[in-house]
Amino acid sequence: MKVLLVGGGGREHAIAAALNRSPKLTKLYCAPGNAGIAQIAECVPIGVMEFGKLIEFAKEKEIDLTVVSMDDPLCAGIVDAFEAEGLRVFGTRANAAIIEGSKSFSKNLMKKYGIPTAAYEVFTDAEAATEYLKTSSYPVVLKADGLALGKGVLICGSFEEAKAGVAEIMLDKKFGDAGNEMVIEEFMTGREVSVLAFVDGKHIKLMSSAQDHKRIGDGDTGLNTGGMGTFSPSPFYTEEIDRQCREQIYQKTVDAMAAEGRPFKGVLYFGLMMTADGPKVVEYNTRFGDPEAQVVLPRMKTDLIDVCEACIDGTLDQIELEFEENAAVCVVIAAGGYPVKYEKGKEIHGLENFENKEGYYCFHAGTKVDGRGKIVTNGGRVLNVVALGGTLQEARANAYRAAQWVSFEDCYMRHDIGKALDEMKQ
Ligand code: AMP
Ligand code: GLY
Repeated sequence: MKVLLVGGGGREHAIAAALNRSPKLTKLYCAPGNAGIAQIAECVPIGVMEFGKLIEFAKEKEIDLTVVSMDDPLCAGIVDAFEAEGLRVFGTRANAAIIEGSKSFSKNLMKKYGIPTAAYEVFTDAEAATEYLKTSSYPVVLKADGLALGKGVLICGSFEEAKAGVAEIMLDKKFGDAGNEMVIEEFMTGREVSVLAFVDGKHIKLMSSAQDHKRIGDGDTGLNTGGMGTFSPSPFYTEEIDRQCREQIYQKTVDAMAAEGRPFKGVLYFGLMMTADGPKVVEYNTRFGDPEAQVVLPRMKTDLIDVCEACIDGTLDQIELEFEENAAVCVVIAAGGYPVKYEKGKEIHGLENFENKEGYYCFHAGTKVDGRGKIVTNGGRVLNVVALGGTLQEARANAYRAAQWVSFEDCYMRHDIGKALDEMKQ
């Protein structure tokens, strides 16, 4: 089969590696890809929002399957556009991708169908939102309604701070049109776990759990980022929690979307918080997490192409989704200064150390080949070093050892990815 993968980050490199393991694959293209993906796929210089060009390419090359796992093109209707041309595509249609694209939609869905989540109110008017804040308890959580690169969430400790937050979102439009509407919700506490699932409109199959580390600094300090590291599985996602989520969250969400006339197909990402009152949904995403995919996909035994096809055909119930009984840890190597201000174009050394090393991956997140043919940094999050291990502790030791194999000027990483695991031993 000829497959076209849309995107060019660390997540797409992990997806490309999983597709590449399928005996069904004859040719893999990636648009636009990156310097790492180029080692296992043919990269084509078409942007992820250039639907017309992507469709033209898919027709010209007689692509059998296109795979998309990015919020912007999914919410903008890339799947609908491909389907309208009779092309087979794995991803979520726009009318269902709204589960990520609009926080007010997803919160209202959860309320209507009794899916546990933080209490909230939706506002379209800054004055009414500010008035409501006078009666809130603190801290309180403000969320811009639309897509904001994972940055549209403010946790405010006081009324003054929250009032300024409302002005930033709704009046100054810090997150653009994403702030035309906003959600104000109750602050929850507890450990966060991500559970990704394949969905075919009706059936849902869960992947192994994972945990992200969103803050830039060790000990979860400093600014929020797109994610500085992950591990899978999460030992905090116990059998009891799994049972509660299966009962109250997973199938209920799929059924709710179908009942709304928005059948969900693709990857559904449940951002969960383990609160004192049980697991609650923090957010839904309509795609593989980044960098969750980097630790989940290397552990997946089932052929990814088979799973994508079953999702398209509505036959996911016939797939046995299996994962290795091992663990994976991902350490993100970022450019110094990320997420605020950082330089690009630094030469990356040591990538060859990952060649033919089973159980180790160096996924490229922000890299490119420069004019001299050298692989250089091209983003804030540059590389995702992933290692497998028999246990999480072993995977973590392996990942940190492998993180020393690569370097570039002023590179930065967190040193405590998966450190929470140590608490488990006490
Ligand atoms: P979101 O974009 O909705 O995932 O939010 C980003 C991050 O903000 C989450 O991963 C949480 O760490 C935090 N967050 C969001 N909503 C809440 C909430 N209601 N209570 C506490 N933390 C939250
Ligand atoms: N790692 C969080 C996300 O992909 O949204």
